[in-house]
Amino acid sequence: MTAPLLEVSHLDVAYPVKGWRRPDFPALRDVSLAIETGETLGLVGESGSGKTTLGRAILGLAPVTAGDIAFQGAQIARLPRSARRALSKDIQVIFQDPYSSLNPAMTVSDILAEPLTAGGASRADAHRRVRELLDRVGLPADAARRLPREFSGGQRQRIAIARALARGPKLIVCDEVVSALDLTTQARVLDLLIELQENTGVAYLFISHDLSVVRHISHRVAVMLRGRIIEEGDAETVTSTPAEPYTQRLLLASPVADPVEQAARRAHYDSLPPIAAPKVVEK
Ligand SMILES: Nc1ncnc2c1ncn2[C@@H]1O[C@H](COP(=O)(O)OP(=O)(O)OP(=O)(O)O)[C@@H](O)[C@H]1O
Ligand SMILES: [Mg+2]
Repeated sequence: MTAPLLEVSHLDVAYPVKGWRRPDFPALRDVSLAIETGETLGLVGESGSGKTTLGRAILGLAPVTAGDIAFQGAQIARLPRSARRALSKDIQVIFQDPYSSLNPAMTVSDILAEPLTAGGASRADAHRRVRELLDRVGLPADAARRLPREFSGGQRQRIAIARALARGPKLIVCDEVVSALDLTTQARVLDLLIELQENTGVAYLFISHDLSVVRHISHRVAVMLRGRIIEEGDAETVTSTPAEPYTQRLLLASPVADPVEQAARRAHYDSLPPIAAPKVVEK
């Protein structure tokens, strides 16, 4: 059997807390998960549960205190900066806010060409690839000459997706990438991500607090609560008949369009017992 594309094993992340002798804050505790080539793992959980921290740890941006992260079988959790930079070809990220994640002073062409020329492409090759990327994400060719502010939120997220795709990554960490978009735009961007995955075989760690969004795009789903993964399984099972009361609550708390269904969910939610401490298997 070959190793998974990404394998996180017993990962702990602790943020230093200011103040004398204050213990570090344990943001991730004993987190293990794997992502295969071409797969989408959805990561859900309430605000503050540690989803972004896990994405940042994979990108080499969080203080890992224990455990390992392997990418294509090689350890990456504690790489020196130069080795980490080389990995940016394979592991990319897209953030929630397409307004602040794109340099407002650069044209779309320059935004997309930058990672290509930094990776050694000639300017001519980079510009050919920019046209191809714009086409891939459904933007017109004349978009290249424009500035980010001349686009809608959904279009800007397409630019961010094109930039992440530029060097043909194997994994993209998507952190709340449709949360700032209206529902119709959300659906279009999700469909684009699915289509790109089918065409390129890229894998996604798809972070979202919205179970219905995660259900739409994921093959498997993991649920985080207070820095731990408390439930994991295929997307359909976890998002429709979850085993854990915490996941049931997340599911019932996500809004649905049908008011009758919504009322039934609310009644069910109100009837659930209060959440106890998470069920955790200590080693
Ligand atoms: N740089 C940091 N320094 C100290 N504590 C941090 C830092 N980043 C995050 N935390 C803390 O770690 C915990 C997890 O934060 P994280 O951002 O990973 O949550 P999240 O699940 O992504 O939440 P949200 O859904 O609101 O984005 C929170 O309690 C947060 O306050
Ligand atoms: Mg977050």
